[in-house]
Amino acid sequence: MKGGAHAAERHDSALRHVTGGAAYIDDLPEPPGTLHAALILSPIAHGRIAMLDLGAARTAPGVVAVLGPHDIPGRNDVAAIGKDEPLFAEGRVYFAGQPLAMVLADTLDRARAAAALARIEIVAEPAILSIDAALAAETWVQAPARLARGDAPAALARAPHRLTGEFRCGGQEHFYLEGQIAFALPGEDGDMLVHSSTQHPTEVQHICARLLGCDFNRITATVRRLGGGFGGKESNASWVAGAAALGAGHTGRPVKLRLPREIDMVATGKRHGFLYRYEVGFDDEGRVLALDAMLAADAGWSLDLTPGVVTRALTHIDNAYFIPHLRAVGYACRTNLQSNTAFRGFGGPQGVLVMEDAIDRMAAHLGRNADALRALNFYARGRDTTPYGQPVTENHLPRVWAEARQLGEVERRRAEIAAFNATSPILKRGLGVFPLKFGISFNSPHMNQAGALVHVYTDGSIRLAHGGTEMGQGLFVKVAQVVAEVFQVDLDRIRPAATSTADVPNTSPTAASTGSDLNGGAAFEAARELKRRMTAYAAEHFGAAEADVVFADNQVRIAAPGSNQVLSFGELAQLCWLGRVSLSATGYYRTPGIHWDPATMQGRPFFYYSFGASVAEVAIDTLTGENRVLRADLVQDCGRSLNPAIDLGQIEGAFVQGQGWLTCEELWWDDRGRLRTVGPSTYKIPGSRDVPPVLNVRLLENAPAEVATVFRSKAVGEPPLMLATAVWTALRDAIAACRQAPGPIRLDAPATPERVLAAVRARQAKS
Ligand code: MTE
Ligand code: MOS
Repeated sequence: MKGGAHAAERHDSALRHVTGGAAYIDDLPEPPGTLHAALILSPIAHGRIAMLDLGAARTAPGVVAVLGPHDIPGRNDVAAIGKDEPLFAEGRVYFAGQPLAMVLADTLDRARAAAALARIEIVAEPAILSIDAALAAETWVQAPARLARGDAPAALARAPHRLTGEFRCGGQEHFYLEGQIAFALPGEDGDMLVHSSTQHPTEVQHICARLLGCDFNRITATVRRLGGGFGGKESNASWVAGAAALGAGHTGRPVKLRLPREIDMVATGKRHGFLYRYEVGFDDEGRVLALDAMLAADAGWSLDLTPGVVTRALTHIDNAYFIPHLRAVGYACRTNLQSNTAFRGFGGPQGVLVMEDAIDRMAAHLGRNADALRALNFYARGRDTTPYGQPVTENHLPRVWAEARQLGEVERRRAEIAAFNATSPILKRGLGVFPLKFGISFNSPHMNQAGALVHVYTDGSIRLAHGGTEMGQGLFVKVAQVVAEVFQVDLDRIRPAATSTADVPNTSPTAASTGSDLNGGAAFEAARELKRRMTAYAAEHFGAAEADVVFADNQVRIAAPGSNQVLSFGELAQLCWLGRVSLSATGYYRTPGIHWDPATMQGRPFFYYSFGASVAEVAIDTLTGENRVLRADLVQDCGRSLNPAIDLGQIEGAFVQGQGWLTCEELWWDDRGRLRTVGPSTYKIPGSRDVPPVLNVRLLENAPAEVATVFRSKAVGEPPLMLATAVWTALRDAIAACRQAPGPIRLDAPATPERVLAAVRARQAKS
């Protein structure tokens, strides 16, 4: 049997991805009469709509309709968890880029040309364009969130040493290669089929129904694959799909809405940028005694998914470290900018930066080695409960730390780098080491559920449907491997179906790295139920005991008294059908043992932790601030990996994406709140030459998950993004080499050449 659990199978679409054979939504054939949509956006960050004259757009060639808020038959609200996030602005606008109306025309070019003819008059009002301005005005999208343990102020007062810190990190554009797109096809009597590049088909279904004012059962949302999501298509895909469905409902014709890159970048949310201020107290050894921290996230103009992002930032402020006394407050700042959203790590990457900054400062202050201080503060026996009350029972920190440091030859290379820096006045090198602990599960317990639907056909081929979406991460192949393992048949007998709300209802988004845990768990249950039925029937038919029916190697062996039968899997399927046994089953999974109280921020929100560690070496040019990652060594815990080939790809990709966030990807708004980095020419994502020339990745071996995940595997999608934190640490190490005496270094992220140069200059000025 080929391709069961733990096999290093390639992505089921790998060949189609590289040959162009993989169909994305824009590749679907367009039925006659298909209309194309283009959005009209607010040019102003905040103000009152005085006039929106769509006359010229309406009469432009090829235009069939121009739709605004008053053309919405249901409710003008596309909020994921809050309310009052209109699809089309009514009365006021809250950010430059907010959709006002939509043109439908017979061709895409004509739709976009007509959209440009809209005459818009908005009376501008004062806009809040930064975290600082929002903090000063105390404008939030939700009340400040607080996580506390012990008495941080008292412990700080007693601490032998105290330091304060302040820094910032920027947001990040998802830059999925396939932009936001949806294609809505009206059916009979109000039915609607919506193809959406979404991580959350169920939310697409709900929001289309909300806008159209119909029951959920009228809408079928489907997606075969996304050309990348990275969190950017968790909530933002829903309003794009909703707009297409609105157009289809209004005209009775198929409607496609595809955002060009520039509109995609100005109209959709990104990773939240953060401002941090903290005070840390510690002893002479460098043991952390207390942390008092303020995290302020730029939520943008509306709630979107910000509550979850702030919660995850707060529950990852500890990262790998035991903090006996903690007081942390998370502000969700309301600004007149894009409404920020999920992005790989979901606040975790922003949270883990705090202690890295603090420990580097502590080490400089005490004149001690920062790596040693990190290890000294790890969770350990007796120091193993997080500030939110979850014990760290399985703790791979010492292992990943030791293995990454060994893989990265840290001792030898530290000496080598010191020698290099001693004789190199212009170029400086630095090394960073980073440990990671990341919680797996959605913070809201109810979201940790999934369904699957498995059919066995009478030729023994299998159709597999589940609620997870395939965005390149390899979910479909992993879940198929689970089913292959249960039936003991070759992987190519299993056909993954496009995700559809018609096959599996009421699904959670494919997010929080839980895709294979949840959907693999559900598919396992469905396959096991079918296997049970087939086993029972075979036993009955051949007069054998159920225990003597064995599935192996694409076959089923039945040891009956006096006769041994061997059937192919397909022959048994055919036999079961003749015997009137149902060969279709649903499976359902819910993560056990998790609970969370959002009011007190206490509980056991995570089923388990994923661990990792990284070593990164950088070089900086102290005359220009230019910087490069020369080498990275990563060790990531994937439990007993479902598919080591896919996991390796996830780790490499996530690391480089994290590297982009922390170094070259800079979002820039002008003083009127207009985003001016709107494409690859002005927004620099890492390219192939930014990948470290030496990139060693190792999966932690012999580390089956302590809890009963599907075949003891662990999630991999997000955690390794945070391993890029070592790049940020390494850059500060290189900057520190510009002067021998210790002292604090401030390096905001992204560490662009300008920021590195400024930090170098600040450092040199002190000598
Ligand atoms: N990998 C690829 N190739 N494309 C993506 O869009 N999204 C990431 C990660 N890996 C993504 C990806 C994010 S943000 C998450 S939460 C997980 O995949 C979701 O999939 P999983 O839960 O199946 O790992
Ligand atoms: Mo991933 S940010 O949870 O979609």
